[in-house]
Amino acid sequence: VRVQQYEIAVLPGDGIGNEVVPEALRVLDVVSAKYGFEVGYRHFDWSCQTYLSTGAMMPDDGLDRLRDHHAILLGAVGWPGVPDHLSLWGLLLPIRRAFDQYVNLRPVRLLPGVTPPVRDKQPGDIDFWVVRENTEGEYSQLGGRQGEGTETELVLQTAAFTRRGTDRIMRYAFELARDLDKPHVTSATKSNGIFHSMPYWDERFAAISAEYPDVRVDQDHIDILCARFVMSPERFDVVVASNLFGDILSDLGPGVTGTIGVAPSGNINPERIYPSTFEPVHGSAPDIAGRGVANPVGQIWSAAMMLDHLGQPEAATDVVRAIEQVLGDQSAPRTPDLGGGAGTEDLGKAIADAL
Ligand code: NAI
Ligand code: MG
Repeated sequence: VRVQQYEIAVLPGDGIGNEVVPEALRVLDVVSAKYGFEVGYRHFDWSCQTYLSTGAMMPDDGLDRLRDHHAILLGAVGWPGVPDHLSLWGLLLPIRRAFDQYVNLRPVRLLPGVTPPVRDKQPGDIDFWVVRENTEGEYSQLGGRQGEGTETELVLQTAAFTRRGTDRIMRYAFELARDLDKPHVTSATKSNGIFHSMPYWDERFAAISAEYPDVRVDQDHIDILCARFVMSPERFDVVVASNLFGDILSDLGPGVTGTIGVAPSGNINPERIYPSTFEPVHGSAPDIAGRGVANPVGQIWSAAMMLDHLGQPEAATDVVRAIEQVLGDQSAPRTPDLGGGAGTEDLGKAIADAL
């Protein structure tokens, strides 16, 4: 019997990334032994510290050194003293773009034992996916400035929607929805206000949805969609959105479920030509870094998404089950963001033990 082996590039990055990543590796070690596959790690210490000592976030051949891994597990990048746009454009964005990770996928789920800021919601009421386009749309470098510094100063920022980029993100959303009990996709639009790109988005949504007659569809303008995320989150299953709308929705979603510390994400290249990156939604949290109190659940859940992507869905489901079991157990360790006094390691170990 050939044992499945995965080589993972591990980039803890900055701040609490260094505290939560070891807990994800702890859980991966336990779950891989349980399910009979092997996970090997290659550690990269690229961070803002690298930037301060070398002038770059990663070496010149950094992308080549990541390329041959099955996946990338990332902590968080960013630290006071290095401007955020330099750390972001120096490491995260080059990885997302060079590896064509055009899907940004975020589950939004209310976990047991986490009190949501919206009243009267139970686990099960909030359980959906945000599928964000990750390479084009509003986040483009097209545009310019004219008459800088004068009374007639003019700035143009152009959004770019290609048919390839639009169709492939929508197809990903429909394929994801097909795996659900009741396949359903909601499109985030704003075709009443944005004259060219959003009517085009709607047109492509109609065209792609015709390929999936078994999937129920609806669309909401981004403004009411935001209100509905808060007022009636139970109505959503898969939400597909452009880069900017998806960026906003994919923070709003986890916000509605209570703590950013538990939210995971994947930057996915569905064709698997390149490795995909799995990382928590949160950043390096300089305000709590170094104290060992960060919540490791977002990082551990990101590792579970990675396992699912690698073709180990049972192991992935088991990790999420272990997370839910521990969070739902009032006597289990809880980090301060969950209202407890336990440390990062205590919670990571409890989840590993639950496996
Ligand atoms: P942040 O997510 O690091 O922190 C926001 C708040 O949430 C802080 O009060 C923090 O203590 C808390 N928090 C975050 N993760 C937590 C966890 N696991 N457990 C408990 N509490 C947690 O966002 P902020 O402060 O805006 O950014 C700090 C740095 O991180 C910046 O340099 C920023 O650019 C970077 N960042 C990086 C991201 C990435 O690598 N993808 C994403 C977001 C921010
Ligand atoms: Mg964001």
